[in-house]
Amino acid sequence: MSGNSGIGSAKITGIGYYLPEKILTNFDLEKMVDTSDEWIVTRSGIRERRIAAEHEAASDLAYEAAKMAVEKAGIDIKDVDLIIVATVTPDMTLPSTACIIQEKLGAMKAAAFDLSAACSGFIYGVATAQSMIGIGHIKKAIVVGVEVLSRIVDWEDRATCVLFGDGAGAVVLEACEKGEGIIGTYMQSDGSLGELLYRPGGGTRLPFNEEMIRERQHYVKMKGDGLFKIAVRSMVDAAEKTLDEAGVKKKDIDYLIPHQANIRIIEGVRKRLKLEKEQVVVNIDRVGNTSSASIPIALGELNESGTLKKGDLVIMVAFGGGLTWGSILFRN
Ligand SMILES: CC(C)(COP(=O)(O)OP(=O)(O)OC[C@H]1O[C@@H](n2cnc3c(N)ncnc32)[C@H](O)[C@@H]1OP(=O)(O)O)[C@@H](O)C(=O)NCCC(=O)NCCS
Repeated sequence: MSGNSGIGSAKITGIGYYLPEKILTNFDLEKMVDTSDEWIVTRSGIRERRIAAEHEAASDLAYEAAKMAVEKAGIDIKDVDLIIVATVTPDMTLPSTACIIQEKLGAMKAAAFDLSAACSGFIYGVATAQSMIGIGHIKKAIVVGVEVLSRIVDWEDRATCVLFGDGAGAVVLEACEKGEGIIGTYMQSDGSLGELLYRPGGGTRLPFNEEMIRERQHYVKMKGDGLFKIAVRSMVDAAEKTLDEAGVKKKDIDYLIPHQANIRIIEGVRKRLKLEKEQVVVNIDRVGNTSSASIPIALGELNESGTLKKGDLVIMVAFGGGLTWGSILFRN
C-alpha cells in the first residue's frame, strides 16, 4: 500500500528519543551465554545495547521520547489530536501504552492507540498519522516507537538475546501543504511468514500457565537466516516503490535511515540502493535491534548531532515480524 493521496500532508516538527542508562556489552553477554564479542560483531555489527531498569516499563521510555519531541516541536500539548504508540512490548495488554502516556503528557484532547507491526511499527504509525492529517481529519499527532525487548527475549538463547535492546523514539507530525514534509509512504505485510519471528505464548492462543512457561513459549523465537534474505529484498523494494511513486531519484537522497537489525542487512540495502556509506545512518553498534524504536532513535541522534539540515531528503525503511515492511520519504 503506497502513496500520499490526501489533500495535504504532514511534516515532522519535533524529534525525541530515550535510551535507558544501563549498557550491556558483548563482553557482559560472554558471561551469560556461550558467545563471543567477535561472533556478535562480525555477524551483526552490535557491540552493546541498552537495557531498561527494573522500574522502567515501555510507557516510561515512550513518555521521555514523546516529551522531548513535543519540546523540540514547541507545540502546546493540549493541541495534540492523536497519539500512536508502536510497540510489541506494551506495559500491559489493557489499557494501551498510548493511553498511559496520553495521561502523563496531559494530551487530553487526543485519541490514543497502540499499533502492532513489530520493527516496522514506527513506519506504519507515521504513515497512519500522515494520512489522517493529509485528509484533514486532524492537525497534530505524536508517533512513538518503543520497546522493552529485554523482558521478552530468552536470556538462555544465544541466537536471539545478543541481538536486541531497549529504547524509544518519537516524532511530532503537523499539517503542511502537499509536497512538503512527508512525500511518500509504503506499507506491506506477508502473514504467511509469521513464524520466522514470533512470540507464541502469553496471548489468547497459548495463555500464561506453568506448562507454557516451562516450555519457554513466552519468549521471542526467530529463524535468523530466513529473515536475513527477505529483509534486504523487502527493504529495497519498499524504498524503490516509495521513491518511484514520489518521482524521486535515488541520487537525490541525502540520508537513508534503515531499521537497525544487522549491519550486514544495512550494507546489503545500501549497496542495492547505490548509496554511499556516509548517507546511511547507523547506530546498531551502540543500541542493537530496538524493533519499532530503532528508526526514530537513529533519526533523533542524527538530528541532535546537527547533521540533519533543513531541506534534506530522508528515506526511512523498516522490516520486521509479521512479516511487515515499509518506508517513509520526507523532506526535512
Ligand atoms: C541471526 C544472525 C545474526 C545469524 O547470522 P548468520 O550469519 O546467519 O549465522 P551463521 O549461520 O553463520 O551461524 C549460525 C551458527 O552460529 C551459532 N550461533 C548463533 N548465535 C550465536 C551466538 N550469539 N554466539 C555464537 N554462536 C552463535 C548457531 O548456533 C549456529 O551454529 P551451527 O552452525 O553450529 O548450528 C543473522 O541471520 C541475522 O541477523 N538474521 C536476521 C535477524 C533479524 O533481522 N531479526 C530481526 C528482524 S527485524
